[in-house]
Amino acid sequence: MKISVVGLGKLGAPLSAVLASKGFDVVGVDLNHAYVDALNAGKAPVDEPRLQELIAANRVRLTATTNVDEAVVATDITFVIVPTPSDATGRFNNAAVLNAMKSIGLALRRKETYHLVVITSTVMPGSTGGEIRLALEQHSGRRLGPQLGLCYNPEFIALGSVVRDMLQPDMILIGESDKAAGDLLESVYAKSCDNTPAVRRMNFVNAELTKISVNTFVTTKISYANMLADICDRLPGADVDVVTQAVGTDSRIGTKYLKGATGYGGPCFPRDNVAFAALARAIGARAELAEATDTMNRYQVERVLGAVDAHLADSGLVGILGLSYKPDTAVVEESQGLALVERLLDLGRRVIVYDPEAIPSAQHALRRPFDVATSAADCVQRSSLVVVMTPWPEFSRIPIDAYRRSTGRLTVIDCWRSTPAAASSVANVVFLGQGAAVGATMASSVGAQ
Ligand SMILES: NC(=O)c1ccc[n+]([C@@H]2O[C@H](COP(=O)([O-])OP(=O)(O)OC[C@H]3O[C@@H](n4cnc5c(N)ncnc54)[C@H](O)[C@@H]3O)[C@@H](O)[C@H]2O)c1
Repeated sequence: MKISVVGLGKLGAPLSAVLASKGFDVVGVDLNHAYVDALNAGKAPVDEPRLQELIAANRVRLTATTNVDEAVVATDITFVIVPTPSDATGRFNNAAVLNAMKSIGLALRRKETYHLVVITSTVMPGSTGGEIRLALEQHSGRRLGPQLGLCYNPEFIALGSVVRDMLQPDMILIGESDKAAGDLLESVYAKSCDNTPAVRRMNFVNAELTKISVNTFVTTKISYANMLADICDRLPGADVDVVTQAVGTDSRIGTKYLKGATGYGGPCFPRDNVAFAALARAIGARAELAEATDTMNRYQVERVLGAVDAHLADSGLVGILGLSYKPDTAVVEESQGLALVERLLDLGRRVIVYDPEAIPSAQHALRRPFDVATSAADCVQRSSLVVVMTPWPEFSRIPIDAYRRSTGRLTVIDCWRSTPAAASSVANVVFLGQGAAVGATMASSVGAQ
């Protein structure tokens, strides 16, 4: 079976490589010549663990082009994984998907056999059966049915583990135009997955709603854990990790994503939650739960700022460890670390940062100067107060000597409780969510009641 993938970005490049590694002939398509040239030269167009290795090992089945027409005509299935940026109302904009439908549709006029189009981009509920279907049918001159299939099939991946998540998914979610289209797509996953995931097949709108509901539910869990952490900050003797581990033991709840720490960020969680609320409001349903999750998330940087203010009165240097929105990626979109740097600079604080991968993307995104340390240890050594914003594993291995001071005392505000235990003997280590973050005043006033 031959497959084309339109959009070779953070999701499309790994999908192309995974499919090629499982024996499919794959033609990748992108408007970006650099991405196409990279893939044709056996190089990963984007950074993602294991991607380079998969591309190098499967070059014989993996080519790329800027020409959608030739890719569609040469293949049986086309995945569409192009950007759907959020608009001012929080809804996803389908312009790039519709543009792809036009190119694919026109190409299908030159092809006689059955073709399946798979929308993997995140779209608003109602889009696939609405304007996307319309555009595909109009431009191809075909109707959905025996000659043309359409599926909505989002991937549930996290950047930094995209290849692993594609090989071992929890669930394959398929919104299908008809049984034949769903059967064909399911057969692709039967071959491409290393595990045997649950397969959920349904109509388009249920699949579209399921995709953003999964992320909305997970973000609600994260904001709930952060609400608990905020309470624990102010409650003497309280420890958010003890509470969330016990709460999560209840099989109705579960411990995954139930850690009080920083807020959530990245290209999906924040905007999926906002889109869900926008959808609910637009159709007259109540949106308060999703809105509260978002409000709670936006508060998290202020919570950390409060802890910084409580522990650093003078003009000391604030060290920020972690700018990527999560470990194992350079992506800083909606990153809490970057938001904290921005707020500190706005407040006139002196800041130095370190991140293993995200410094160039942070510099590009922030567009204002900030000092960069040469290593995590260097960041700790030079700062009066350090904030751990991203749980990169290397931050838990910073040598103890970096925390020692000949004069004064270093404070570490660790949102993730990852600082080496020995650091507490030479530094004032404050674990957010453990009753000491916003200073003694708040805690003692609560304790006195
Ligand atoms: N990145 C994630 O973690 C993630 C997770 C789940 C869902 N998604 C969704 O997947 C979609 C793509 O996300 P991404 O992160 O891979 O985006 P990306 O920006 O990294 O990549 C998209 C690629 O599509 C290309 N492109 C745009 N229009 C095109 C066209 N008409 N023809 C060919 N190529 C075209 C762009 O040049 C770009 O290389 C979005 O809808 C996003 O919401 C992303």
